[in-house]
Amino acid sequence: MENIYILAIESSCDDTSAAVMCGDVVLSNVTASQAVHEQYGGVVPELASRAHEQNIVPVVDAALKRAGIAKEQLSAIAFTRGPGLMGSLLVGVSFAKGLAASLGIPMVEVNHLQGHIMAHFIKEEGAEHHSPEFPFLCLMVSGGNSQIVKVNSYKDMEIIGQTIDDAAGEAMDKCAKVMGLGYPGGPIIDRLAREGNPKAYTFSKPHIPGYDYSFSGLKTSFLYTLRKLVAEEENYVENHKEDLAASFEATVVDILMGKLYKASKALGIKRIALSGGVSANTALRQAFHDYAKRYGWEIFIPKFGFTTDNAAMIGIVGYYKFLDNDFCAMDQPAFSRTVL
Ligand code: KG4
Repeated sequence: MENIYILAIESSCDDTSAAVMCGDVVLSNVTASQAVHEQYGGVVPELASRAHEQNIVPVVDAALKRAGIAKEQLSAIAFTRGPGLMGSLLVGVSFAKGLAASLGIPMVEVNHLQGHIMAHFIKEEGAEHHSPEFPFLCLMVSGGNSQIVKVNSYKDMEIIGQTIDDAAGEAMDKCAKVMGLGYPGGPIIDRLAREGNPKAYTFSKPHIPGYDYSFSGLKTSFLYTLRKLVAEEENYVENHKEDLAASFEATVVDILMGKLYKASKALGIKRIALSGGVSANTALRQAFHDYAKRYGWEIFIPKFGFTTDNAAMIGIVGYYKFLDNDFCAMDQPAFSRTVL
């Protein structure tokens, strides 16, 4: 069979990304991030759409050049159809449609969350690869989602539990914000926490039935603790930021792992994967290794480059769908909200 080359495009939030896949092997994965949002402490949708407009052509061009592939060699174009910010999605979706129409090649639509989970199947040239067998459980933790997903096949995924309020990444970002740290807060909390004591403070944990998560109570508990301490000592946060970050992070990790363990035990599945932006977190990665040792889990942790939003994860789903002749019509609109 001839090589299948797929160009993948991801523009659901604040990263403009393009990747070229040869089958399930990634040839290039180019991402332009948007620093413009830092000063606002969060993603500003209109600014994100404008930056995507500026970035999309150079990013796709760079991905093709790095892969050494001419656009005429492409077999199909895969793109993130949703969920995400509508204005951001529209840039990638419209670009994909225009390019596919001009080249006369099919399009494959990809669900962003499915992409995060399927990132475990991306192969790299010359690198050893180890992907999970089906079925497996995936903890999908990002700025917008916190879910436990039972993955039966690349297209059959069941949400076992999910957050009823904030996502884990959102909680990290808000914790950093109330401490007056920068944005995105997750990586800053991670860095500070490595120098701090995770047992220095105790914050309240949710009591939610089943496998669902909640992080809003923890956020409030953190805020009240901080207010009380700052009232007693003005520079308290500055003087204790490492311990505060480490204790907050440890509570988030405990909550995430507790439900994951419960789901693994009830479903009898010990193949456990981690996905999404928060999977870059050091303490969460360590917890995965600890649980693997203690409970005999076979764990799958993505490479850093495939944790945050990137187009290779869209390309891998695009490839599997291509093999199934699962193409998308020109009239399919972007969607902002969905479940898997
Ligand atoms: O998946 P992602 O790149 O974007 C979407 O949500 O779509 O995830 C971003 C989230 C942010 O909340 C960010 O603070 C968090 O992932 N994050 C981290 C770390 N790196 C990114 N959280 C904790 N520790 C990290 N090292």
